[in-house]
Amino acid sequence: LRSRGLGDVYKRQTEDCEKIITQAIKGGTSMLVTAEEMLKKAKAGKYAVGQFNINNLEWTKAILATAQELQSPVILGVSEGAGKYMTGFGTVAAMVKAMIEEMNITVPVALHLDHGTYEGCYKCIKAGFSSIMFDGSHLPIEENIEKTKELVAVCKGMGMSLEAEVGSIGGEEDGVVGMGECADPEECKKIADLGVTMLAAGIGNIHGVYPANWKGLSFETLAAVSEKVGDMPLVLHGGTGIPADMIKKAISLGVSKINVNTECQLSFAAATREYIEAGKDQKGKGFDPRKLLAPGAEAIKATVKEKMELFGSVGKA
Ligand code: 13P
Repeated sequence: LRSRGLGDVYKRQTEDCEKIITQAIKGGTSMLVTAEEMLKKAKAGKYAVGQFNINNLEWTKAILATAQELQSPVILGVSEGAGKYMTGFGTVAAMVKAMIEEMNITVPVALHLDHGTYEGCYKCIKAGFSSIMFDGSHLPIEENIEKTKELVAVCKGMGMSLEAEVGSIGGEEDGVVGMGECADPEECKKIADLGVTMLAAGIGNIHGVYPANWKGLSFETLAAVSEKVGDMPLVLHGGTGIPADMIKKAISLGVSKINVNTECQLSFAAATREYIEAGKDQKGKGFDPRKLLAPGAEAIKATVKEKMELFGSVGKA
């Protein structure tokens, strides 16, 4: 009897252990999802999923909390510079995965390399990202095609999603704001046909704050690209400062992923400035980083919420 009792305890404990291990393994692979399913749903449902770039723990925590609160799918974007800043892509992947678990995040989250170089793509594949962007837009189209083709095969094997780019996105470089290029729809089709998950096509969009003389998005280009690539989800970079009506029109023409970076940086900086200018860091323990960084984090949450509402992804988790 005694030995049977112990046997039962042992059996129960073994079953418990198995459950924990299975969950851990499942968690390890399912905590992050690729961008594929969420973008297919977005394209079919005529809304867009936001890619919000992360720079540190506060950024990541604020974006994840907002996505969970609003029951929205989300893509966390990591540029090569931000990855380096956070000591490497391995740190980023470990932090994001642990945070999803510790914060009980249940909405779909993709961890995505933003504007990856060929080498950067392989680093993120190794680090356990669920999605990458290979930005070959500055390369001759043949080389962009060759490298994208290779990465399509690798990502398929790894169960990851892949974004490609045609027509480079403008932006500020050394103080000069370059106007965004408009992609050639034929080239877009060539890249889309390689089997990428999503395609960023330049339509006059620019990273950073739009200059006063910006001509707006080229919907003519977007419509032509959309017609060529069919069901392929299109990506709109440079989401900061694009007027709401242009965002809505872009979504209606096939954009299902919109990238936002600068706007979170601006709202974080403004809220932090306000806190310091009000002398709050000098009152009591206001210098404690958990207090000092809190208004900035709340400001990021407000920006992300505003964008998710505009993009229509709220309640789509
Ligand atoms: P903004 O910084 O202009 O929002 O652009 C973000 C982006 O496109 C990242 O790839």
